[in-house]
Amino acid sequence: MIIVKTKPEIRDAVAKWRSAGKRISAVPTMGALHQGHLSLIDTAKQHSDRVVATIFVNPLQFGPNEDFKTYPRDMDHDLALLEAQGCDLVFAPEHTDLFAPDFSTKISVAGVGEDHCAVTRPQFFDGVATIVAKLLINLAPDLAVFGEKDYQQLMVIRRMTRDLDIDVKIVGSPIIRETDGLAMSSRNQYLSSSERAIAPKLFETLNLAAEIFLQGESDWPVISEWASTRLTDAGFSKVDYLNMTDAATLTHIVKPDQPARLLAAAWIGRTRLIDNIPASA
Ligand code: PAJ
Repeated sequence: MIIVKTKPEIRDAVAKWRSAGKRISAVPTMGALHQGHLSLIDTAKQHSDRVVATIFVNPLQFGPNEDFKTYPRDMDHDLALLEAQGCDLVFAPEHTDLFAPDFSTKISVAGVGEDHCAVTRPQFFDGVATIVAKLLINLAPDLAVFGEKDYQQLMVIRRMTRDLDIDVKIVGSPIIRETDGLAMSSRNQYLSSSERAIAPKLFETLNLAAEIFLQGESDWPVISEWASTRLTDAGFSKVDYLNMTDAATLTHIVKPDQPARLLAAAWIGRTRLIDNIPASA
Protein backbone atom coordinates (compact mmCIF):
# COMPACT_ATOMS: atom_id res chain seq x y z
CA MET A 1 0.00 0.00 0.00
CA ILE A 2 1.37 3.40 -1.01
CA ILE A 3 1.06 6.30 1.46
CA VAL A 4 1.36 9.89 0.24
CA LYS A 5 0.95 13.28 1.89
CA THR A 6 1.12 15.92 -0.83
CA LYS A 7 -1.03 16.98 -3.78
CA PRO A 8 1.72 16.47 -6.43
CA GLU A 9 2.32 12.92 -5.15
CA ILE A 10 -1.35 11.94 -5.19
CA ARG A 11 -1.93 13.48 -8.63
CA ASP A 12 1.12 11.65 -9.98
CA ALA A 13 0.14 8.25 -8.52
CA VAL A 14 -3.41 8.47 -9.83
CA ALA A 15 -2.26 9.72 -13.28
CA LYS A 16 -0.02 6.65 -13.66
CA TRP A 17 -2.91 4.28 -12.94
CA ARG A 18 -5.21 6.24 -15.23
CA SER A 19 -2.79 6.04 -18.15
CA ALA A 20 -2.57 2.28 -17.51
CA GLY A 21 -6.36 2.16 -18.00
CA LYS A 22 -7.25 1.48 -14.36
CA ARG A 23 -10.63 2.45 -12.89
CA ILE A 24 -10.03 4.40 -9.69
CA SER A 25 -12.24 4.88 -6.64
CA ALA A 26 -11.93 7.23 -3.66
CA VAL A 27 -13.03 6.67 -0.06
CA PRO A 28 -12.74 9.91 1.96
CA THR A 29 -12.51 9.51 5.76
CA MET A 30 -11.42 11.36 8.88
CA GLY A 31 -9.61 8.28 10.24
CA ALA A 32 -10.38 6.51 13.56
CA LEU A 33 -11.47 3.73 11.27
CA HIS A 34 -13.96 0.97 12.10
CA GLN A 35 -15.84 -1.73 10.18
CA GLY A 36 -18.19 0.91 8.72
CA HIS A 37 -15.29 2.63 6.97
CA LEU A 38 -13.77 -0.69 5.91
CA SER A 39 -17.06 -1.74 4.30
CA LEU A 40 -16.70 1.32 2.03
CA ILE A 41 -13.33 -0.03 0.89
CA ASP A 42 -15.06 -3.32 -0.02
CA THR A 43 -17.76 -1.43 -1.97
CA ALA A 44 -15.06 0.58 -3.74
CA LYS A 45 -13.16 -2.60 -4.66
CA GLN A 46 -16.29 -4.06 -6.24
CA HIS A 47 -16.55 -1.04 -8.56
CA SER A 48 -12.91 -0.32 -9.45
CA ASP A 49 -9.36 -1.60 -10.03
CA ARG A 50 -7.61 0.70 -7.55
CA VAL A 51 -8.87 2.13 -4.23
CA VAL A 52 -7.58 5.39 -2.76
CA ALA A 53 -8.58 6.16 0.86
CA THR A 54 -8.08 9.63 2.31
CA ILE A 55 -7.50 10.39 5.99
CA PHE A 56 -7.89 14.02 7.01
CA VAL A 57 -9.63 15.46 10.07
CA ASN A 58 -11.19 18.44 8.33
CA PRO A 59 -11.28 21.55 10.55
CA LEU A 60 -13.76 23.30 8.20
CA GLN A 61 -16.59 21.01 9.26
CA PHE A 62 -16.22 21.47 13.04
CA GLY A 63 -17.95 24.30 14.93
CA PRO A 64 -16.05 26.44 17.46
CA ASN A 65 -17.35 24.40 20.43
CA GLU A 66 -17.07 20.99 18.77
CA ASP A 67 -14.54 18.18 19.13
CA PHE A 68 -11.91 19.01 16.45
CA LYS A 69 -9.03 18.96 18.96
CA THR A 70 -10.14 15.77 20.71
CA TYR A 71 -11.39 13.88 17.63
CA PRO A 72 -9.79 10.40 17.83
CA ARG A 73 -6.60 10.07 15.75
CA ASP A 74 -4.58 6.85 15.31
CA MET A 75 -2.77 6.91 11.98
CA ASP A 76 -0.71 3.72 12.47
CA HIS A 77 -3.76 1.65 13.36
CA ASP A 78 -5.77 3.15 10.48
CA LEU A 79 -3.01 2.36 7.96
CA ALA A 80 -2.78 -1.25 9.19
CA LEU A 81 -6.57 -1.68 8.82
CA LEU A 82 -6.59 -0.17 5.32
CA GLU A 83 -3.70 -2.35 4.18
CA ALA A 84 -5.41 -5.50 5.52
CA GLN A 85 -8.60 -4.49 3.68
CA GLY A 86 -6.77 -4.29 0.35
CA CYS A 87 -6.66 -0.52 -0.07
CA ASP A 88 -4.03 0.47 -2.68
CA LEU A 89 -3.15 4.03 -1.72
CA VAL A 90 -3.72 6.36 1.23
CA PHE A 91 -3.70 10.14 0.89
CA ALA A 92 -3.08 11.54 4.38
CA PRO A 93 -2.20 15.22 4.00
CA GLU A 94 -1.32 17.68 6.76
CA HIS A 95 -3.34 20.88 6.87
CA THR A 96 -0.54 22.82 5.16
CA ASP A 97 -0.36 20.22 2.35
CA LEU A 98 -3.97 20.93 1.48
CA PHE A 99 -4.66 24.58 2.30
CA ALA A 100 -2.94 27.82 1.30
CA PRO A 101 -2.48 30.06 4.36
CA ASP A 102 -5.02 32.52 2.92
CA PHE A 103 -7.50 29.86 1.73
CA SER A 104 -10.90 31.57 1.57
CA THR A 105 -13.36 29.60 -0.57
CA LYS A 106 -16.56 28.02 0.69
CA ILE A 107 -18.94 25.70 -1.15
CA SER A 108 -22.48 25.91 0.17
CA VAL A 109 -25.25 23.55 -0.94
CA ALA A 110 -28.75 24.99 -0.46
CA GLY A 111 -31.84 22.76 -0.14
CA VAL A 112 -30.50 19.33 0.88
CA GLY A 113 -27.68 21.06 2.80
CA GLU A 114 -30.10 23.05 4.95
CA ASP A 115 -32.34 21.73 7.77
CA HIS A 116 -31.78 18.52 9.81
CA CYS A 117 -28.10 18.44 10.90
CA ALA A 118 -27.51 21.94 9.51
CA VAL A 119 -29.88 23.47 12.09
CA THR A 120 -27.55 22.81 15.02
CA ARG A 121 -24.32 22.53 12.97
CA PRO A 122 -24.60 25.49 10.54
CA GLN A 123 -20.98 25.24 9.36
CA PHE A 124 -20.96 21.49 8.87
CA PHE A 125 -22.12 20.86 5.30
CA ASP A 126 -20.21 23.85 3.88
CA GLY A 127 -17.10 22.35 5.46
CA VAL A 128 -17.85 18.88 4.10
CA ALA A 129 -18.73 20.09 0.59
CA THR A 130 -15.60 22.24 0.40
CA ILE A 131 -13.17 19.53 1.53
CA VAL A 132 -14.80 16.80 -0.56
CA ALA A 133 -14.63 19.04 -3.65
CA LYS A 134 -10.91 19.62 -3.01
CA LEU A 135 -10.26 15.90 -2.51
CA LEU A 136 -12.19 14.94 -5.65
CA ILE A 137 -10.42 17.59 -7.74
CA ASN A 138 -7.01 16.31 -6.60
CA LEU A 139 -7.82 12.60 -6.90
CA ALA A 140 -10.00 12.81 -10.02
CA PRO A 141 -11.43 9.33 -9.30
CA ASP A 142 -13.98 7.56 -11.49
CA LEU A 143 -16.15 7.04 -8.42
CA ALA A 144 -16.25 7.96 -4.75
CA VAL A 145 -17.95 5.94 -2.01
CA PHE A 146 -19.80 7.47 0.97
CA GLY A 147 -21.79 5.78 3.75
CA GLU A 148 -25.55 6.01 4.11
CA LYS A 149 -24.78 6.43 7.84
CA ASP A 150 -24.41 10.12 6.98
CA TYR A 151 -27.44 10.22 4.69
CA GLN A 152 -27.78 14.01 4.46
CA GLN A 153 -24.03 14.27 3.78
CA LEU A 154 -24.38 11.73 0.94
CA MET A 155 -27.19 13.83 -0.59
CA VAL A 156 -25.16 17.05 -0.21
CA ILE A 157 -22.17 15.47 -1.97
CA ARG A 158 -24.33 14.11 -4.80
CA ARG A 159 -25.85 17.55 -5.34
CA MET A 160 -22.51 19.38 -5.08
CA THR A 161 -20.75 17.14 -7.63
CA ARG A 162 -23.69 17.36 -10.02
CA ASP A 163 -24.04 21.13 -9.72
CA LEU A 164 -20.30 21.77 -10.14
CA ASP A 165 -19.87 19.26 -13.01
CA ILE A 166 -17.31 17.23 -11.08
CA ASP A 167 -17.11 14.13 -13.24
CA VAL A 168 -17.38 11.41 -10.59
CA LYS A 169 -19.98 8.76 -9.79
CA ILE A 170 -21.09 8.97 -6.15
CA VAL A 171 -21.84 5.53 -4.69
CA GLY A 172 -23.77 5.13 -1.42
CA SER A 173 -22.89 2.18 0.83
CA PRO A 174 -25.13 0.62 3.53
CA ILE A 175 -24.89 1.42 7.26
CA ILE A 176 -22.79 -1.04 9.27
CA ARG A 177 -24.12 -1.62 12.82
CA GLU A 178 -22.97 -3.24 16.03
CA THR A 179 -24.86 -6.47 16.87
CA ASP A 180 -27.25 -4.50 19.11
CA GLY A 181 -28.14 -2.13 16.25
CA LEU A 182 -26.02 0.90 17.15
CA ALA A 183 -24.63 2.41 13.94
CA MET A 184 -20.83 2.25 14.03
CA SER A 185 -19.20 5.66 14.45
CA SER A 186 -15.79 7.00 15.41
CA ARG A 187 -17.57 9.03 18.10
CA ASN A 188 -19.06 5.92 19.82
CA GLN A 189 -15.78 5.64 21.72
CA TYR A 190 -16.78 8.81 23.65
CA LEU A 191 -19.63 6.85 25.32
CA SER A 192 -19.23 5.61 28.89
CA SER A 193 -20.38 2.02 29.48
CA SER A 194 -23.74 3.16 30.91
CA GLU A 195 -24.23 5.53 27.93
CA ARG A 196 -23.23 2.75 25.53
CA ALA A 197 -26.00 0.59 27.00
CA ILE A 198 -28.60 3.27 26.17
CA ALA A 199 -27.30 4.06 22.67
CA PRO A 200 -29.03 1.19 20.74
CA LYS A 201 -32.40 2.68 21.79
CA LEU A 202 -31.95 5.19 18.98
CA PHE A 203 -32.09 2.58 16.21
CA GLU A 204 -34.78 0.65 18.09
CA THR A 205 -36.94 3.77 18.42
CA LEU A 206 -36.47 4.73 14.76
CA ASN A 207 -37.69 1.28 13.73
CA LEU A 208 -40.75 1.44 15.98
CA ALA A 209 -41.59 4.97 14.82
CA ALA A 210 -41.23 4.00 11.14
CA GLU A 211 -43.49 1.01 11.70
CA ILE A 212 -46.23 3.21 13.21
CA PHE A 213 -45.75 5.77 10.40
CA LEU A 214 -46.21 3.10 7.74
CA GLN A 215 -49.52 2.04 9.29
CA GLY A 216 -50.70 5.47 8.12
CA GLU A 217 -53.05 6.25 11.02
CA SER A 218 -51.09 9.07 12.67
CA ASP A 219 -49.26 12.00 11.11
CA TRP A 220 -45.50 12.16 11.55
CA PRO A 221 -45.43 15.08 14.08
CA VAL A 222 -47.48 13.00 16.54
CA ILE A 223 -45.25 9.93 16.14
CA SER A 224 -42.13 12.08 16.36
CA GLU A 225 -43.29 13.50 19.71
CA TRP A 226 -43.85 9.97 21.03
CA ALA A 227 -40.44 8.78 19.77
CA SER A 228 -38.67 11.79 21.25
CA THR A 229 -40.20 11.10 24.68
CA ARG A 230 -39.23 7.42 24.38
CA LEU A 231 -35.61 8.48 23.84
CA THR A 232 -35.47 10.95 26.73
CA ASP A 233 -37.20 8.38 29.00
CA ALA A 234 -34.45 5.91 28.02
CA GLY A 235 -31.73 8.35 29.12
CA PHE A 236 -30.99 10.46 26.04
CA SER A 237 -30.25 14.00 27.21
CA LYS A 238 -31.57 15.82 24.14
CA VAL A 239 -33.15 15.05 20.78
CA ASP A 240 -31.92 17.44 18.05
CA TYR A 241 -34.40 16.15 15.47
CA LEU A 242 -36.47 13.17 14.35
CA ASN A 243 -37.48 14.09 10.82
CA MET A 244 -39.46 12.04 8.33
CA THR A 245 -38.25 13.17 4.92
CA ASP A 246 -38.66 12.55 1.22
CA ALA A 247 -35.77 10.15 0.52
CA ALA A 248 -34.53 12.18 -2.47
CA THR A 249 -35.11 15.83 -1.54
CA LEU A 250 -35.01 15.55 2.29
CA THR A 251 -38.08 17.79 2.57
CA HIS A 252 -40.41 17.00 5.49
CA ILE A 253 -43.30 14.62 4.94
CA VAL A 254 -46.27 13.79 7.15
CA LYS A 255 -47.85 10.71 5.52
CA PRO A 256 -46.35 7.54 4.02
CA ASP A 257 -47.14 8.18 0.36
CA GLN A 258 -43.64 8.43 -1.14
CA PRO A 259 -40.18 6.83 -0.58
CA ALA A 260 -39.15 8.18 2.81
CA ARG A 261 -36.08 8.35 5.02
CA LEU A 262 -36.27 8.88 8.76
CA LEU A 263 -33.32 11.05 9.90
CA ALA A 264 -32.35 11.53 13.53
CA ALA A 265 -29.78 13.12 15.82
CA ALA A 266 -29.81 12.83 19.60
CA TRP A 267 -27.44 13.36 22.48
CA ILE A 268 -26.40 11.02 25.27
CA GLY A 269 -24.52 13.20 27.74
CA ARG A 270 -21.88 15.02 25.69
CA THR A 271 -22.00 12.66 22.70
CA ARG A 272 -24.18 13.36 19.68
CA LEU A 273 -25.35 10.30 17.73
CA ILE A 274 -26.94 10.33 14.28
CA ASP A 275 -28.80 7.55 12.53
CA ASN A 276 -31.32 7.03 9.75
CA ILE A 277 -33.46 4.30 8.22
CA PRO A 278 -35.58 3.94 5.08
CA ALA A 279 -39.31 4.20 5.82
CA SER A 280 -41.18 3.06 2.74
CA ALA A 281 -43.86 0.47 2.25
P1 PAJ B 1 -16.04 9.92 8.62
O1 PAJ B 1 -16.99 10.22 9.71
O2 PAJ B 1 -14.68 9.40 8.95
O3 PAJ B 1 -16.74 8.91 7.65
C1 PAJ B 1 -16.12 8.55 6.45
C2 PAJ B 1 -17.10 7.75 5.62
O4 PAJ B 1 -17.46 6.57 6.33
C3 PAJ B 1 -18.41 8.53 5.35
O5 PAJ B 1 -18.81 8.29 4.01
C4 PAJ B 1 -19.37 7.88 6.34
O6 PAJ B 1 -20.73 7.95 5.93
C5 PAJ B 1 -18.88 6.44 6.34
N1 PAJ B 1 -19.30 5.72 7.55
C6 PAJ B 1 -19.09 6.06 8.84
N2 PAJ B 1 -19.69 5.18 9.68
C7 PAJ B 1 -20.31 4.27 8.89
C8 PAJ B 1 -21.11 3.11 9.15
N3 PAJ B 1 -21.41 2.71 10.39
N4 PAJ B 1 -21.58 2.40 8.09
C9 PAJ B 1 -21.30 2.79 6.81
N5 PAJ B 1 -20.54 3.87 6.51
C10 PAJ B 1 -20.05 4.61 7.53
O7 PAJ B 1 -17.90 11.52 6.92
C11 PAJ B 1 -16.78 11.96 7.11
O8 PAJ B 1 -15.78 11.26 7.73
C12 PAJ B 1 -16.36 13.34 6.63
O9 PAJ B 1 -17.45 14.21 6.70
C13 PAJ B 1 -15.74 13.34 5.20
C14 PAJ B 1 -16.75 12.88 4.14
C15 PAJ B 1 -14.49 12.46 5.16
C16 PAJ B 1 -15.31 14.79 4.84
O10 PAJ B 1 -14.40 15.29 5.77
